[in-house]
Amino acid sequence: MATFSLFGCNPHPSKEVRKARISDRYIVKAKTMTTSSPPSFPADLPGPAAVDLTGEKVHWDLKDSMSYGDYLHLPELLACQQPLSGQHDETLFIVIHQASELWIKLCLHEIAGAIRQIRADELGPAFKMMSRVARVQVNLIQSWEILSTMTPFDYSSFRSALGKSSGFQSFQYRMLEFRLGNKNRQMAQVYESRNDIASAVQAALTAPSIYDEALALLARRGLPVPSEKLERDFAEPYTADPQVMEAWRQVYRDAEKHWDLYELAEKLVDLEYRFQLWRYTHMKTVERIIGSKPGTGGTSGVNYLKKALDLRFYPELWDVRTEI
Ligand code: HEM
Repeated sequence: MATFSLFGCNPHPSKEVRKARISDRYIVKAKTMTTSSPPSFPADLPGPAAVDLTGEKVHWDLKDSMSYGDYLHLPELLACQQPLSGQHDETLFIVIHQASELWIKLCLHEIAGAIRQIRADELGPAFKMMSRVARVQVNLIQSWEILSTMTPFDYSSFRSALGKSSGFQSFQYRMLEFRLGNKNRQMAQVYESRNDIASAVQAALTAPSIYDEALALLARRGLPVPSEKLERDFAEPYTADPQVMEAWRQVYRDAEKHWDLYELAEKLVDLEYRFQLWRYTHMKTVERIIGSKPGTGGTSGVNYLKKALDLRFYPELWDVRTEI
Protein backbone atom coordinates (compact mmCIF):
# COMPACT_ATOMS: atom_id res chain seq x y z
CA MET A 1 0.00 0.00 0.00
CA ALA A 2 1.27 3.47 -0.89
CA THR A 3 2.17 5.78 1.99
CA PHE A 4 1.31 9.49 1.90
CA SER A 5 2.78 12.29 3.93
CA LEU A 6 1.12 15.60 4.78
CA PHE A 7 2.89 17.08 1.78
CA GLY A 8 1.54 14.56 -0.68
CA CYS A 9 4.71 12.53 -1.21
CA ASN A 10 6.61 9.79 0.46
CA PRO A 11 8.84 11.30 3.15
CA HIS A 12 11.43 8.52 2.73
CA PRO A 13 11.97 8.16 -1.03
CA SER A 14 14.53 5.76 -2.40
CA LYS A 15 17.95 7.01 -3.52
CA GLU A 16 16.91 6.79 -7.21
CA VAL A 17 13.72 8.78 -6.61
CA ARG A 18 15.70 11.44 -4.71
CA LYS A 19 18.21 11.73 -7.57
CA ALA A 20 15.41 12.04 -10.13
CA ARG A 21 13.70 14.80 -8.10
CA ILE A 22 16.93 16.73 -7.77
CA SER A 23 17.74 16.52 -11.48
CA ASP A 24 14.13 17.56 -12.30
CA ARG A 25 14.52 20.67 -10.20
CA TYR A 26 17.85 21.34 -11.83
CA ILE A 27 16.36 21.10 -15.30
CA VAL A 28 13.42 23.38 -14.41
CA LYS A 29 15.85 25.95 -13.07
CA ALA A 30 18.06 25.68 -16.19
CA LYS A 31 15.04 26.04 -18.50
CA THR A 32 13.87 29.23 -16.82
CA MET A 33 17.27 30.92 -17.20
CA THR A 34 17.43 33.54 -19.90
CA THR A 35 21.22 33.86 -20.33
CA SER A 36 23.42 31.30 -21.98
CA SER A 37 25.69 30.99 -18.92
CA PRO A 38 25.75 27.54 -17.28
CA PRO A 39 23.07 27.14 -14.59
CA SER A 40 24.23 27.72 -11.03
CA PHE A 41 23.98 24.87 -8.58
CA PRO A 42 20.61 25.17 -6.77
CA ALA A 43 21.11 26.32 -3.19
CA ASP A 44 18.75 23.70 -1.74
CA LEU A 45 20.61 20.69 -3.12
CA PRO A 46 22.17 18.55 -0.41
CA GLY A 47 25.83 19.44 0.06
CA PRO A 48 28.56 17.28 1.57
CA ALA A 49 27.62 15.67 4.88
CA ALA A 50 30.48 17.39 6.71
CA VAL A 51 32.63 20.43 5.99
CA ASP A 52 35.81 19.51 4.15
CA LEU A 53 38.76 20.49 6.33
CA THR A 54 41.43 19.24 3.94
CA GLY A 55 44.15 21.86 3.64
CA GLU A 56 42.79 24.00 6.52
CA LYS A 57 45.49 24.81 9.05
CA VAL A 58 43.23 24.59 12.08
CA HIS A 59 44.88 25.09 15.49
CA TRP A 60 43.64 21.89 17.06
CA ASP A 61 45.97 21.83 20.01
CA LEU A 62 45.25 24.78 22.31
CA LYS A 63 46.87 23.32 25.41
CA ASP A 64 49.40 26.16 25.59
CA SER A 65 47.50 28.96 23.88
CA MET A 66 44.53 31.12 24.61
CA SER A 67 41.35 29.71 23.12
CA TYR A 68 38.07 31.37 22.19
CA GLY A 69 36.51 30.25 25.46
CA ASP A 70 39.51 31.51 27.46
CA TYR A 71 39.46 34.94 25.82
CA LEU A 72 35.70 35.38 26.35
CA HIS A 73 35.65 33.75 29.80
CA LEU A 74 32.91 31.50 28.50
CA PRO A 75 32.99 28.99 31.35
CA GLU A 76 32.31 31.86 33.81
CA LEU A 77 29.77 33.55 31.53
CA LEU A 78 27.86 30.35 30.87
CA ALA A 79 27.85 29.45 34.54
CA CYS A 80 25.81 32.58 35.31
CA GLN A 81 22.45 31.18 34.20
CA GLN A 82 21.11 29.59 37.36
CA PRO A 83 17.38 29.07 37.34
CA LEU A 84 15.88 28.74 40.82
CA SER A 85 12.53 27.17 40.06
CA GLY A 86 13.29 24.23 37.77
CA GLN A 87 10.60 25.57 35.43
CA HIS A 88 11.40 25.42 31.70
CA ASP A 89 10.80 29.12 30.88
CA GLU A 90 12.98 30.55 33.63
CA THR A 91 16.04 29.99 31.42
CA LEU A 92 14.65 32.31 28.75
CA PHE A 93 13.85 34.89 31.43
CA ILE A 94 17.42 34.81 32.75
CA VAL A 95 19.12 34.76 29.34
CA ILE A 96 17.11 37.70 28.00
CA HIS A 97 17.86 39.80 31.08
CA GLN A 98 21.55 38.95 31.05
CA ALA A 99 21.86 39.55 27.31
CA SER A 100 20.08 42.91 27.73
CA GLU A 101 22.48 43.85 30.54
CA LEU A 102 25.45 43.05 28.30
CA TRP A 103 24.07 45.27 25.54
CA ILE A 104 23.36 48.04 28.08
CA LYS A 105 26.98 47.71 29.17
CA LEU A 106 28.06 48.37 25.61
CA CYS A 107 25.66 51.36 25.38
CA LEU A 108 27.21 52.85 28.54
CA HIS A 109 30.68 52.39 27.09
CA GLU A 110 29.73 54.03 23.79
CA ILE A 111 27.84 56.92 25.41
CA ALA A 112 30.77 57.63 27.74
CA GLY A 113 33.01 57.70 24.65
CA ALA A 114 30.58 59.96 22.75
CA ILE A 115 30.41 62.37 25.71
CA ARG A 116 34.22 62.61 25.80
CA GLN A 117 34.34 63.27 22.05
CA ILE A 118 31.66 65.98 22.19
CA ARG A 119 33.54 67.64 25.03
CA ALA A 120 36.66 67.61 22.82
CA ASP A 121 34.73 69.03 19.82
CA GLU A 122 35.32 65.79 17.91
CA LEU A 123 31.86 65.16 16.54
CA GLY A 124 32.76 62.59 13.86
CA PRO A 125 33.79 59.86 16.34
CA ALA A 126 30.90 60.83 18.65
CA PHE A 127 28.42 60.26 15.81
CA LYS A 128 29.87 56.85 15.11
CA MET A 129 29.40 55.82 18.74
CA MET A 130 25.89 57.24 18.94
CA SER A 131 24.92 55.36 15.76
CA ARG A 132 26.22 52.17 17.30
CA VAL A 133 24.08 52.71 20.39
CA ALA A 134 21.06 53.25 18.15
CA ARG A 135 21.71 49.87 16.47
CA VAL A 136 22.04 48.17 19.85
CA GLN A 137 18.73 49.71 20.82
CA VAL A 138 17.12 48.15 17.73
CA ASN A 139 18.44 44.81 18.92
CA LEU A 140 17.13 45.36 22.46
CA ILE A 141 13.71 46.29 21.11
CA GLN A 142 13.69 43.23 18.87
CA SER A 143 14.39 40.98 21.84
CA TRP A 144 10.81 41.52 23.13
CA GLU A 145 9.74 39.33 20.21
CA ILE A 146 11.53 36.43 21.86
CA LEU A 147 10.13 37.16 25.30
CA SER A 148 6.60 37.40 23.97
CA THR A 149 6.69 33.63 23.34
CA MET A 150 6.31 33.31 27.12
CA THR A 151 2.68 33.04 28.23
CA PRO A 152 1.22 34.36 31.52
CA PHE A 153 1.06 30.78 32.73
CA ASP A 154 4.75 30.13 31.89
CA TYR A 155 5.80 33.25 33.82
CA SER A 156 3.59 32.53 36.81
CA SER A 157 5.25 29.11 37.13
CA PHE A 158 8.50 30.74 38.34
CA ARG A 159 7.51 34.29 39.36
CA SER A 160 7.64 33.54 43.08
CA ALA A 161 11.30 32.54 42.70
CA LEU A 162 12.16 36.15 41.76
CA GLY A 163 11.26 37.50 45.21
CA LYS A 164 11.62 41.30 45.21
CA SER A 165 14.07 41.36 42.32
CA SER A 166 13.01 43.47 39.35
CA GLY A 167 14.45 45.32 36.36
CA PHE A 168 13.60 48.41 38.39
CA GLN A 169 16.85 47.69 40.26
CA SER A 170 18.97 47.49 37.07
CA PHE A 171 21.79 49.86 37.93
CA GLN A 172 23.15 49.86 34.41
CA TYR A 173 19.74 50.88 33.06
CA ARG A 174 19.55 53.78 35.54
CA MET A 175 23.09 54.84 34.68
CA LEU A 176 22.20 54.80 30.99
CA GLU A 177 19.11 56.92 31.65
CA PHE A 178 21.23 59.37 33.65
CA ARG A 179 23.95 59.58 31.00
CA LEU A 180 21.34 60.15 28.32
CA GLY A 181 19.78 62.93 30.40
CA ASN A 182 16.88 61.49 32.40
CA LYS A 183 18.04 62.49 35.89
CA ASN A 184 16.11 61.38 38.97
CA ARG A 185 17.83 61.31 42.39
CA GLN A 186 15.12 59.15 43.93
CA MET A 187 15.90 56.27 41.59
CA ALA A 188 19.42 56.06 43.04
CA GLN A 189 18.06 55.24 46.53
CA VAL A 190 17.45 51.61 45.69
CA TYR A 191 21.23 50.95 45.58
CA GLU A 192 22.07 52.51 48.95
CA SER A 193 22.83 49.18 50.60
CA ARG A 194 25.39 48.31 47.87
CA ASN A 195 28.38 50.69 48.13
CA ASP A 196 30.16 49.72 44.92
CA ILE A 197 27.03 50.08 42.83
CA ALA A 198 25.78 53.18 44.67
CA SER A 199 28.97 55.12 43.89
CA ALA A 200 28.87 54.25 40.18
CA VAL A 201 25.20 55.29 40.00
CA GLN A 202 25.93 58.54 41.90
CA ALA A 203 28.74 59.35 39.47
CA ALA A 204 26.37 58.91 36.51
CA LEU A 205 23.72 60.99 38.28
CA THR A 206 25.95 63.95 39.09
CA ALA A 207 27.93 64.07 35.83
CA PRO A 208 26.75 66.15 32.85
CA SER A 209 24.63 64.07 30.50
CA ILE A 210 25.18 63.84 26.75
CA TYR A 211 22.57 66.60 26.37
CA ASP A 212 24.37 68.84 28.89
CA GLU A 213 27.52 68.33 26.81
CA ALA A 214 25.64 69.13 23.61
CA LEU A 215 24.39 72.40 25.13
CA ALA A 216 27.92 73.30 26.25
CA LEU A 217 29.03 72.73 22.65
CA LEU A 218 26.26 75.01 21.33
CA ALA A 219 27.49 77.70 23.74
CA ARG A 220 31.11 77.25 22.53
CA ARG A 221 29.82 77.80 19.00
CA GLY A 222 28.29 81.12 20.05
CA LEU A 223 24.67 80.00 20.24
CA PRO A 224 22.49 81.48 23.00
CA VAL A 225 22.59 78.89 25.80
CA PRO A 226 21.98 80.57 29.20
CA SER A 227 24.66 80.12 31.87
CA GLU A 228 22.08 78.64 34.32
CA LYS A 229 21.86 75.65 31.99
CA LEU A 230 25.62 75.31 31.62
CA GLU A 231 26.33 75.50 35.36
CA ARG A 232 23.25 73.72 36.62
CA ASP A 233 23.15 70.94 39.23
CA PHE A 234 23.48 68.03 36.82
CA ALA A 235 21.77 65.62 39.21
CA GLU A 236 18.51 67.57 38.82
CA PRO A 237 16.06 66.78 36.01
CA TYR A 238 16.62 68.95 32.94
CA THR A 239 13.77 71.38 32.22
CA ALA A 240 13.05 73.06 28.88
CA ASP A 241 14.34 76.57 28.34
CA PRO A 242 13.22 79.16 25.76
CA GLN A 243 16.78 80.30 25.03
CA VAL A 244 17.98 76.76 24.42
CA MET A 245 14.98 76.39 22.12
CA GLU A 246 16.18 79.48 20.26
CA ALA A 247 19.66 77.98 19.93
CA TRP A 248 18.29 74.78 18.35
CA ARG A 249 15.91 76.86 16.22
CA GLN A 250 18.95 78.60 14.71
CA VAL A 251 20.63 75.25 14.07
CA TYR A 252 17.56 73.84 12.30
CA ARG A 253 16.82 77.02 10.34
CA ASP A 254 20.33 77.13 8.89
CA ALA A 255 21.32 73.48 8.88
CA GLU A 256 23.97 74.00 6.20
CA LYS A 257 25.84 76.49 8.36
CA HIS A 258 25.53 74.35 11.50
CA TRP A 259 25.62 70.96 9.79
CA ASP A 260 27.43 69.03 12.53
CA LEU A 261 25.21 70.47 15.27
CA TYR A 262 22.18 69.61 13.17
CA GLU A 263 23.47 66.06 12.82
CA LEU A 264 24.15 65.90 16.56
CA ALA A 265 20.56 66.98 17.26
CA GLU A 266 19.18 64.27 14.98
CA LYS A 267 21.41 61.61 16.55
CA LEU A 268 20.15 62.63 19.99
CA VAL A 269 16.56 62.39 18.81
CA ASP A 270 17.35 58.93 17.41
CA LEU A 271 18.56 57.76 20.83
CA GLU A 272 15.58 59.14 22.72
CA TYR A 273 13.11 57.86 20.13
CA ARG A 274 14.49 54.32 20.42
CA PHE A 275 14.68 54.51 24.19
CA GLN A 276 10.97 55.27 24.22
CA LEU A 277 10.26 52.43 21.78
CA TRP A 278 12.06 50.08 24.18
CA ARG A 279 9.96 51.39 27.08
CA TYR A 280 6.76 50.99 25.09
CA THR A 281 7.51 47.43 23.92
CA HIS A 282 8.59 46.47 27.46
CA MET A 283 5.34 47.87 28.83
CA LYS A 284 3.21 46.03 26.25
CA THR A 285 5.10 42.76 26.77
CA VAL A 286 4.66 43.10 30.54
CA GLU A 287 0.95 43.81 30.06
CA ARG A 288 0.67 40.74 27.88
CA ILE A 289 2.35 38.58 30.52
CA ILE A 290 1.11 39.92 33.88
CA GLY A 291 -1.91 42.07 32.99
CA SER A 292 -2.44 44.63 35.76
CA LYS A 293 -0.70 42.74 38.57
CA PRO A 294 1.84 44.74 40.62
CA GLY A 295 5.54 44.31 39.78
CA THR A 296 8.04 42.28 41.80
CA GLY A 297 9.89 45.58 42.42
CA GLY A 298 6.90 46.96 44.33
CA THR A 299 5.37 49.33 41.77
CA SER A 300 1.85 49.16 40.35
CA GLY A 301 3.33 47.34 37.32
CA VAL A 302 2.04 48.36 33.90
CA ASN A 303 0.53 51.59 35.26
CA TYR A 304 3.95 52.58 36.59
CA LEU A 305 5.61 51.70 33.28
CA LYS A 306 3.09 53.85 31.38
CA LYS A 307 4.11 56.95 33.37
CA ALA A 308 7.64 56.85 31.93
CA LEU A 309 6.25 57.01 28.40
CA ASP A 310 5.59 60.74 28.90
CA LEU A 311 9.19 61.57 29.86
CA ARG A 312 11.23 63.70 27.47
CA PHE A 313 15.03 63.74 27.55
CA TYR A 314 15.59 66.53 25.02
CA PRO A 315 12.44 68.69 25.20
CA GLU A 316 13.66 71.49 22.93
CA LEU A 317 14.58 69.02 20.18
CA TRP A 318 10.99 67.80 20.12
CA ASP A 319 9.45 71.28 20.43
CA VAL A 320 11.58 72.78 17.66
CA ARG A 321 9.99 70.34 15.19
CA THR A 322 6.62 72.02 15.57
CA GLU A 323 8.12 75.18 14.11
CA ILE A 324 9.80 73.71 11.07
C1 HEM B 1 8.44 38.51 31.88
C2 HEM B 1 9.18 39.55 31.60
C3 HEM B 1 9.12 40.84 32.35
C4 HEM B 1 8.19 41.30 33.20
C5 HEM B 1 6.89 40.62 33.66
C6 HEM B 1 8.64 42.58 33.67
C7 HEM B 1 7.95 43.38 34.55
C8 HEM B 1 8.35 44.61 34.99
C9 HEM B 1 7.61 45.45 35.89
C10 HEM B 1 6.23 45.13 36.45
C11 HEM B 1 8.33 46.55 36.12
C12 HEM B 1 7.98 47.71 37.04
C13 HEM B 1 8.80 47.66 38.29
C14 HEM B 1 8.36 46.60 39.26
O1 HEM B 1 8.82 45.46 39.15
O2 HEM B 1 7.54 46.90 40.14
C15 HEM B 1 9.55 46.42 35.35
C16 HEM B 1 10.56 47.34 35.30
C17 HEM B 1 11.69 47.21 34.56
N1 HEM B 1 12.05 46.14 33.80
FE1 HEM B 1 10.92 44.56 33.36
N2 HEM B 1 9.82 42.89 33.05
C18 HEM B 1 10.16 41.85 32.24
C19 HEM B 1 11.28 41.75 31.45
C20 HEM B 1 12.30 42.66 31.43
C21 HEM B 1 13.50 42.52 30.67
C22 HEM B 1 13.86 41.36 29.73
C23 HEM B 1 14.27 43.58 30.95
C24 HEM B 1 15.63 43.82 30.35
C25 HEM B 1 16.64 44.34 30.99
C26 HEM B 1 13.55 44.41 31.89
C27 HEM B 1 14.01 45.59 32.42
C28 HEM B 1 13.25 46.40 33.24
C29 HEM B 1 13.70 47.71 33.66
C30 HEM B 1 15.00 48.40 33.28
C31 HEM B 1 12.70 48.23 34.47
C32 HEM B 1 12.67 49.63 35.10
C33 HEM B 1 11.88 50.54 34.19
C34 HEM B 1 11.68 51.94 34.75
O3 HEM B 1 11.77 52.14 35.95
O4 HEM B 1 11.41 52.85 33.95
N3 HEM B 1 12.36 43.82 32.14
N4 HEM B 1 9.52 45.24 34.67
